[in-house]
Amino acid sequence: MDSFDIESVIEFFNSRAAAWDEKMVRNEEAISAILDVAGIRAGIDVLDVACGTGVLFPDYFSRGVASLTAIDVAPQMARRAQEKFPQADVICGNVETWPFERKFDAVVVYNAFPHFPDFQRIIRELASLTKPGGRLTVAHGMSLERLRAHHAGAASKISREMLAPEELAALMRRYFIVDTAVSDDEKYVVSGVRV
Ligand SMILES: C[S@@+](CC[C@H](N)C(=O)[O-])C[C@H]1O[C@@H](n2cnc3c(N)ncnc32)[C@H](O)[C@@H]1O
Repeated sequence: MDSFDIESVIEFFNSRAAAWDEKMVRNEEAISAILDVAGIRAGIDVLDVACGTGVLFPDYFSRGVASLTAIDVAPQMARRAQEKFPQADVICGNVETWPFERKFDAVVVYNAFPHFPDFQRIIRELASLTKPGGRLTVAHGMSLERLRAHHAGAASKISREMLAPEELAALMRRYFIVDTAVSDDEKYVVSGVRV
């Protein structure tokens, strides 16, 4: 499906928030590789876009980030993330309209990109939130094929078909020097440095 509204997205994820963590499957190797590509390291300011219940928060903190800001539009997701990690600044809101007053060294969208209805628009917005020299990373803990199959199921009404890595890289190149665009059995990751 190519068109959906934010209310449907909120309803869908609110209804899944309570069981989100128990259903979560973490592939540690894939997450570690994604966060290496994303440049997550000590001393940087991170924005986790569409953070859910905060699946990546322990990884950011264990890498010693200076600050973690995160945003999720579904109140039941954002509330859980904030309760679990009081040291993070979790915003409940739509990243496309939230009036951020700062930019970030690393902007990460993990397991969430297909839920943005207009890919060009969200990339433009994320570019505006990335410091010059900072990095945007769009990643998934599964291959493109599994990702597409996954979003053709229950989430089809609130998802777009995911772009191949090179297609997403082409969209990002307007604002970023893209140095990673891969999909393998374990992960999907496209990442670039803001010019
Ligand atoms: C599949 S979940 C992934 C959550 C988390 N990143 C994870 O891997 O567990 C997608 C998330 O995107 C959020 N989301 C979708 N559109 C959003 C928007 N415009 N602004 C902020 N969050 C959004 C949803 O509320 C949902 O929590």
